[in-house]
Amino acid sequence: MKILVTGGAGFIGGNFVHYMVNKYPEDMIVNLDLLTYAGNLETLKPVEDKPNYKFVRGDIADRRFVFDLFEKEKFDVVINFAAESHVDRSIKNPEIFVQTNVLGTTTLLDAANAFGVKRYHQVSTDEVYGDLPLDRPDLFFTEETPLHTSSPYSSSKASADLFVMAYHRTFGTPVTISRCSNNYGPYQFPEKFIPLIISRAMNDEKIPVYGEGLNVRDWLHVYDHCVAIDLIVRNGKVGEVYNVGGHNERTNMQIVETVLSALGKPLSLIEHVADRKGHDRRYAIDPAKITRELGWQPKYSFDTGIPMTIDWYLQNKEWWENIISGEYQQYFEKMYGDRL
Ligand code: NAD
Ligand code: DAU
Repeated sequence: MKILVTGGAGFIGGNFVHYMVNKYPEDMIVNLDLLTYAGNLETLKPVEDKPNYKFVRGDIADRRFVFDLFEKEKFDVVINFAAESHVDRSIKNPEIFVQTNVLGTTTLLDAANAFGVKRYHQVSTDEVYGDLPLDRPDLFFTEETPLHTSSPYSSSKASADLFVMAYHRTFGTPVTISRCSNNYGPYQFPEKFIPLIISRAMNDEKIPVYGEGLNVRDWLHVYDHCVAIDLIVRNGKVGEVYNVGGHNERTNMQIVETVLSALGKPLSLIEHVADRKGHDRRYAIDPAKITRELGWQPKYSFDTGIPMTIDWYLQNKEWWENIISGEYQQYFEKMYGDRL
């Protein structure tokens, strides 16, 4: 099979490329990524020389480029990770979220239709369901929970999901959607909460906690998300949505305290700052459908995944230090400059 993975130079897409290239040597994985601030080819170093892997730089919203690529490569499967993914950035500058997350998705869907792709998978998020109240721990997001978004980011992801389902109904496009909870693990850009805490704590810098830090997220190790997507693409039913999550709810304060204590750093590094606008209170996924229909079970709990992840950031200091210093943005030029 020839599989197009978009956004494979980012956090989850990068982990997914590693997983697929190693697990399926008979498949060809083409990684299409624009290399925005969030894309980092250093993440792909362990696979860049493998014969079943290829990188292409480009924009999923650039129609001519995308159609030319699909015509040339004749993909069997498309898995769309590419997105603007950070809520705080969407509050500062919503427009690029519409451009990439909505227009990029419809461009890929059009190309998938035009070139007869056998499966289009959309990597979506639990944020499309909005949030749950803090005083109702009995409530969870199911696939039937109505879309009810809070931020420009989640609104753009929900819009994309609506287009994916509309293409299935109108044109018969063979689609699936996964909606996963918060991921953590190797290669996550240090603007996101867990790598932000680790990198700042290691430099004895203050850790900004929004508001009182009582908001709850449902944390899943990125490896378990990759396994879920692979299962959905191979065995999931066309036209279906699958929620992905492992029942690992923690308040933000619990997260900071866990990480600081693992690093042997004082709680005095915590600094409460102004809250995020429209801050979602609680996310919590009910993964019963993917467990029942596809047999998916997470391998890691938060308690086993987080020490491993902290250790990865300690062992791979150069990876995130290059990001903080801006060095990683030179990587493409250094590696590819004389080949262009
Ligand atoms: P990320 O920001 O780390 O990576 C996004 C990647 O997309 C980057 O490599 C970037 O260069 C690329 N990209 C951005 N715009 C592009 C464009 N126009 N054309 C081609 N490539 C482009 O994001 P992530 O955290 O890895 O998230 C990946 C996907 O998973 C997103 O769709 C996100 O909505 C979804 N998701 C994320 C989480 C999470 O916790 N991080 C949870 C559930 C779902
Ligand atoms: O739920 C899935 C979503 O999880 C994905 O769709 C998004 O792409 C991903 O970014 C993530 O969104 P969150 O907004 O939940 O993640 P973030 O890491 O930005 O924040 C996690 C929590 O920590 C949230 O309640 C806000 C808080 N926070 C975050 C930052 C960056 C802080 O208190 N301080 C911070 O500096």
